[in-house]
Amino acid sequence: MKVLGIFASPRKEGNTELLLEELLKGAEKEGASVERLYLRDFTITPCKECHGCDNTGSCVILDDMEKIYPKLLEADAVVLASPIFFYGVTAWAKALIDRSQAFWARKYLLKDSSFGKEGKKRKGFFISVGATKGAKVFEGAVLTVKYFFDVLNADYAGELLFKEVEAKGDILKHPEALQQSFEAGRRLVQNP
Ligand SMILES: Cc1cc2nc3c(=O)[nH]c(=O)nc-3n(C[C@H](O)[C@H](O)[C@H](O)COP(=O)(O)O)c2cc1C
Repeated sequence: MKVLGIFASPRKEGNTELLLEELLKGAEKEGASVERLYLRDFTITPCKECHGCDNTGSCVILDDMEKIYPKLLEADAVVLASPIFFYGVTAWAKALIDRSQAFWARKYLLKDSSFGKEGKKRKGFFISVGATKGAKVFEGAVLTVKYFFDVLNADYAGELLFKEVEAKGDILKHPEALQQSFEAGRRLVQNP
């Protein structure tokens, strides 16, 4: 099983990074092959809404997304880890998600069977962290990510969302959160 871990925080060794790293270690322990994608190292231009992908299912923008599209397609499970920025995912994550419009076109406009019922099924898992304790802090991001996973033919396999975690490395004060993430990685592989 191939697990693609997408690190969407600009902050190195930040809270979502530590959580996703634990999840991936759990997946590796169960024998998964794991790839780590640090979005801050990639240049992802925002979607231009040119509809260039409508007839082809391919994006006309030539940038680092060209490297990322095949990784999304090859993955059996995609794990996205993004902190909450202004009640949503980070700009890196959102740019990647919006550029998945090319897959949306394949699935819904071009009726590409590889995205249909007979196509490859994937799993999606979301990790997020926010500084505040607002009741709705994760609502927007979760909706965005669920819709992204739908385009990838990925079932929403689960989420780990932690409030009131702000400074770099604060999540280390919650070892149970890291343990939960490790176990989530194991379960992701154990229940294909
Ligand atoms: C630009 C920016 C916007 C943020 N917006 C929110 C927000 O709307 N709600 C919230 O709870 N935390 C917000 N935060 C706090 C981060 O979600 C929090 O510090 C988190 O722990 C960062 O995770 P990381 O270490 O993985 O980058 C924001 C932080 C930044 C830098």
